[in-house]
Amino acid sequence: MEIVPMDLRDVIKQCEHELKPLMDEKKHTFTVQIPDHPLQINGDFARLNQVISNILTNSQKFTPDGGKVEVTVSEKPESVSISVKDNGIGIRKEDIAKVFDLFSDIKKPGNIKGTGLGLNVAKGIIEAHGGKIEAFSESEGKGAIFTTTLPKIK
Ligand SMILES: Nc1ncnc2c1ncn2[C@@H]1O[C@H](COP(=O)(O)OP(=O)(O)OP(=O)(O)O)[C@@H](O)[C@H]1O
Ligand SMILES: [Mg+2]
Repeated sequence: MEIVPMDLRDVIKQCEHELKPLMDEKKHTFTVQIPDHPLQINGDFARLNQVISNILTNSQKFTPDGGKVEVTVSEKPESVSISVKDNGIGIRKEDIAKVFDLFSDIKKPGNIKGTGLGLNVAKGIIEAHGGKIEAFSESEGKGAIFTTTLPKIK
């Protein structure tokens, strides 16, 4: 990895641009909140792009047609968080802890497939940045939220 000072907004913008066509294919409402001030972090642009793309691709994949995928940014004095919220199939309470496992094979309705690699890799990348990545879901059918938190440059 090549970790250098960067504006995290550039990753968000790039991911929005890359994922928009996929979201349109499923008629998802895709909203992305980009703050009007820089979000300075130490990061590897390509690796962070990979993380946010995977999370967005998951939301796209695990949300039925015509759903909603929302990206929001929140800040604390020491950190910045990107949350991706969807209103898709959600995750059972007992499966939440498994989403970051290598080859996690969570049972899903229908014929949705995945290798179960993306989030495991994402977790490694974010931890290598001194950050954390968390998954939330009220229950099956209630959508999911993935929050990625990175330390700000002081
Ligand atoms: N937004 C989401 N809504 C519901 N379930 C999710 C969501 N994101 C991830 N999951 C669950 O977590 C599992 C692991 O996600 P991960 O991205 O690691 O794998 P994948 O998408 O199945 O495959 P890959 O990313 O390797 O192509 C998924 O298979 C799915 O069961
Ligand atoms: Mg994935």
